[in-house]
Amino acid sequence: MSWIRNNDLNLLQKLCVNVLKCGPVPRHVAFIMDGNRRYARKTNVQKAEGHSKGFDKLAECLHWCRELGIKEVTVYAFSIENFKRSNDEVEALMQLAREKFQKLFEEKDKLMQEGVCIRVIGNLCLLPDDIRKLIAEAMLLTKDNTRSILNVAFSYTSREEITQSIRSIVEAVQDKSIEVGDVSEELIANCLYTHLSPDPDILIRTSGEVRISDFLLWQISNTELCFTNVLWPEFNIWHLLGFVFKYQRSRCLQDVYKANKPQPNRNHRTQSFVKSFERKRIQQLELYARA
Ligand code: FPP
Ligand code: MG
Repeated sequence: MSWIRNNDLNLLQKLCVNVLKCGPVPRHVAFIMDGNRRYARKTNVQKAEGHSKGFDKLAECLHWCRELGIKEVTVYAFSIENFKRSNDEVEALMQLAREKFQKLFEEKDKLMQEGVCIRVIGNLCLLPDDIRKLIAEAMLLTKDNTRSILNVAFSYTSREEITQSIRSIVEAVQDKSIEVGDVSEELIANCLYTHLSPDPDILIRTSGEVRISDFLLWQISNTELCFTNVLWPEFNIWHLLGFVFKYQRSRCLQDVYKANKPQPNRNHRTQSFVKSFERKRIQQLELYARA
């Protein structure tokens, strides 16, 4: 199954999509794709097959998001906690990632034509070398695409992300690139894996679990949280449209909140630190890609 799908929506789906597009469309939607193993049990297939069906649903869902005009999507594909699962299951998830990132290169032309940028957020050092290399190559290849952005949280937890952000800032204070007084919310956000993304407008979790599970804790302070009992491989366009409608109804209050948000206040020290930090990230990816 391809990353980029172009299935036509039926007439009723098209009509509803067009009606929702008249209102404020979320710019960024995040998904906790939960329930793959329960789906596997329910349908009498192996866990690996459940995760594979989960990937197919992700590809389908990305298509619905593009149809709706949602520019950015972030998905929780593998938590650092998932390394504690059985070796067989971790290996099956790694194999799925290997196959799908390889597939991504086979679809390179389509990806570039559609202007899709793929970013993997997480601690890439924890991944097998070959997957890290594939990820770095995919990120470098698509980094200048801007029409549609997919962030794949892979080997990710939010606490680890915040910890590494703080560590980078402490190192910069120690080497005197910045001063303690320069440390701000904005600077911490700039050192997160998600530094290039706006905060999600909506976070959707499937499978009936009403938890955040260490996903985007910093980024969801003002996000519409949506939960559904449906298992991820059974998620359909109507669930998504329902959540977008819910978001549109609560949007007015969010505008008041945003209007009151303090404006960032960067000085030249923090600006040059953030720029050099960004350069280092790209250099690190180039090293992984060459490995
Ligand atoms: C949670 O369901 C799902 C995962 C841990 C894996 C999600 C991964 C995918 C959908 C594939 C994405 C792949 C790529 C390459 C982007 P669960 O295993 O916790 O199921 P359960 O809650 O029923 O036990
Ligand atoms: Mg689960």
